[in-house]
Amino acid sequence: MSLSKSSVPSTDKRKILVTCALPYANGSIHLGHLLEHIQTDIWVRFQRMRGHETYFVCADDAHGTPIMLKAQELGVTPEQMIAGVREEHMADFADFHISFDNYHSTHSDENKAFAEEIYNRLHAKGHIKTRTISQLYDPEKGMFLPDRFVKGTCPKCKSEDQNGDSCDNCGETYSPTEVLNPRSVVSGATPVLRDSEHYFFDLPAFGDMLQEWTRSGSLQEEMANKLAEWFESGLQQWDISRDAPYFGFEIPNAPGKYFYVWLDAPIGYMGSFKNLCDKTGIDFDAFWQLDSEAELYHFIGKDIIYFHSLFWPAMLEGAGYRKPTSVYAHGFVTVNGAKMSKSKGTFIKGRTYLEHLNPEYLRYYYAAKLTSRIDDLDLNLEDFAQRVNSDLVGKVVNIASRCASFITKRFDGMLSTNIDNQALADEVMAAGDSIAAHYESRDFGRGMREIMALADKVNEYIAIKEPWQLVKDETKQQEVQDICSLGINMFRTLMIYLKPVLPVLADSTAEFLNDDLIWEGHKTLLTDHKINKFKALLQRVDMDKVNAMTDASKENLLVKAEDEKPAKAKKKAKQEKVVDNSAALNDPLGSDPISEEIQFDDFAKIDLRIAKIINAEHVEKADKLLKLTLALDSKENGETRQVFAGIKSAYQPEDLIGKHTVMVANLAPRKMRFGMSEGMVLAAGPGGKDLWILNPDDGAQPGMRVK
Ligand code: MSP
Ligand code: ZN
Repeated sequence: MSLSKSSVPSTDKRKILVTCALPYANGSIHLGHLLEHIQTDIWVRFQRMRGHETYFVCADDAHGTPIMLKAQELGVTPEQMIAGVREEHMADFADFHISFDNYHSTHSDENKAFAEEIYNRLHAKGHIKTRTISQLYDPEKGMFLPDRFVKGTCPKCKSEDQNGDSCDNCGETYSPTEVLNPRSVVSGATPVLRDSEHYFFDLPAFGDMLQEWTRSGSLQEEMANKLAEWFESGLQQWDISRDAPYFGFEIPNAPGKYFYVWLDAPIGYMGSFKNLCDKTGIDFDAFWQLDSEAELYHFIGKDIIYFHSLFWPAMLEGAGYRKPTSVYAHGFVTVNGAKMSKSKGTFIKGRTYLEHLNPEYLRYYYAAKLTSRIDDLDLNLEDFAQRVNSDLVGKVVNIASRCASFITKRFDGMLSTNIDNQALADEVMAAGDSIAAHYESRDFGRGMREIMALADKVNEYIAIKEPWQLVKDETKQQEVQDICSLGINMFRTLMIYLKPVLPVLADSTAEFLNDDLIWEGHKTLLTDHKINKFKALLQRVDMDKVNAMTDASKENLLVKAEDEKPAKAKKKAKQEKVVDNSAALNDPLGSDPISEEIQFDDFAKIDLRIAKIINAEHVEKADKLLKLTLALDSKENGETRQVFAGIKSAYQPEDLIGKHTVMVANLAPRKMRFGMSEGMVLAAGPGGKDLWILNPDDGAQPGMRVK
C-alpha cells in the first residue's frame, strides 16, 4: 500500500483531485460553508494556474433522517426537495466563483453503486458485524429516533426540555435512554425502547493502519494530535445501519436496513468524480486505485475530522482503494467575535451576502486571514470593510488608477520599452516562488501579506516619482511614460499573484492589459505593449451595505424556531438563548449590544397596548410556546387576540392568567405551525427561566395605548 506523499513535487505535472465537504441538502449555504469552499477554490485555482491536472468536485449530502422529515414537513418527496436545494446551492457557489468541475448528489446511481461495492467488499472480508441494540422508538410516528430527536429532563440536574444526548444547563452528556420524561420531537409521543439488529463496521481492525497513516507526515499537526487522543481512548465499532423509514440506500441483502448517511456521504466524493469521468473521459481508476500516483485531498471543517481521518481511510483500505494524500481541516467562522447568530443578523446566508456585497471582498478577506491551521476565523465586519478597502482598493487597484490615465491620454495606451526601476521590478517578480509556497501550504494570509507589502513598495515608488507633477513639464514626458509603465507592470504582476483569490478582478485586469495573466507571466514584463482604457475595477466596501446585509439576516426567532424543523435549527436557536422580541428589547443583563438605531417614525409605527391575559395554555408539540388569549379592552366579549409567545421556559400558564402585559397590537398576523399569531407580547431577559413579560400595573387597563 503506497502511503501518502509527504513531499510534493513542484514542477512535474501533478494529478490532483480535491473535494470540499458535502453540504447537507436541507439548508442554505452560509458564510461558514463558504470559508471552506473559498479556501478550497483558491487552492484549486492556484494548482490549475501552475499547470497541474486538477479536478475539484463536490455534491449535496442528500440522505438521512432530518432530510426525510423536512421533506415530509414541506409536503414534498425527498427527491423533490433535494433537487431544489441542489439548484440553490449550485447557484450560490457559482456566484461566489467556486470553480467546481462537478457538483453532484449523494442520492445518485454512481454513489449507490460505490456504496454497495464498498460495503460488499468490507462484508466479504469480515469487516461488517451485526448485533441487536435497543433504541428509543416513536410509536406514533413508527420510527427509531436519532438522539437529537429526543428531548426530556436531564438525568443529572433535572433541568427540563434538554436534548436527547446532552444538557445545555449542566453540560452532562448521556444516552437518550437515560433522559427522564423523554418525548419525541417528531410527534410529541413518549418513546419506547425497541430492539433492532444493526450493522457495524469493524473500525478497530484498522487501528494499526490508521496509526501508520497518521504518522505519514502529511496531516496537520493538530489533526495528528487529535487522532492520537482517539487511539488512546480506543477505537469503537461504527454503527452503519438505520432502520426504515429512512431516506438513503438500502443495504444489500438486508431488507429494511439502510446505510447510515455518513456511510455513503464520503463515498459521494467518488460518486461525483465518477459522474465527471463519465461525462469527460477522465480515467477514474488513475485517481482511486491502490497504487494511484494521483494526489487526493479533502478540505473539511474541524467538526467532521473523525469521519474523514478514521472511518473514511479505513473504509477505503478495507475495500481496496487508495487513501487520501491528506485531509485538511479548517476552523469555524465566527462573526464579530461570536458564534453566528440569527438574532444579531450574523447568521448570514451566501445569498443574502450576494444581494449586498461583491463576493470577491469575502474571498479576499478569508484569504487574508486563513492559515494552514485549524483555528477559528473571525469575520469582523468593520475590519472586513477596512481591510478590503485599504488593501485591494487603496493599495493594489490604486497603482493602476494612478498610472493608467497618463498612459492612455499621453501615450496612446502604449507601455514604454524602458524599465524605469529594474531593482523594484526584480523584487516583485522574484516574490513569485515564495508566494507560490504560501499558496501550496495553504498559508494564504502570509501570501496576502507578502503581496500587500510589495504593493506598498510600488505605491511608495510612484509617490516619490510624482508622475502627476512631471507630466506638467514637457521635457519629462518619457520619464512619465516609464514610471507609469512600470507601475502598470507591477500591478499586473500583483494581479497574477492574486488571481486564485480574485478571479473576476483578474479577468477585468486581463482585459484592461491585453494579457492573460498566466502564472509564468510573473517572470516577464510587458514592454512596448498596448493596453486598454482603464475603467474602475473595484468599488470600496460601503459599510451601509454591510449593515443592510446584517439587517436582512435578522430573523424573528420565535417564528423561526418553531416553524423550522429539524431539531438542528431549534437547537441553534436554543443555544443562542434569545427570546422572540430580541430585536425590540435589549437584554437588561447587558450581554446583547444595543441594536440598530431607529428613527422616531419607526417607533411611532409600533402600536403598543396594554392587554389582559385572559387565557394561557400549553401548545401540544411546541417546545417553547404558550398560547395566550389577550383582551384588548375591558368589555365582556370585547376584542381578543391569539398570540404564541416563546415564554414556556419561564412561566406556567396558570400564573399568567389575569395579568396585564404590553403587546404589539399592529404586528401583521403570522401563520405558524400551530395557528395564527396575531401580535407579540413584550418580554425581556437572557432566556430560559430568566425571562419576564412586561407586567404593568397601577391602573393600567386593557386597550390603553403605551406611549
Ligand atoms: N454533510 C456533512 C459533510 C459530509 S462530507 C462527506 C456536513 N455538512 S454541513 O453542511 O453541516 O457542513 C459542511 C461543511 O461546512 C463542513 O466541513 C463544516 O465543517 C463546514 N461548516 C459548517 N459551518 C461552518 C462554520 N460556521 N465555519 C466554517 N465551516 C463550517 O457536515
Ligand atoms: Zn443537566
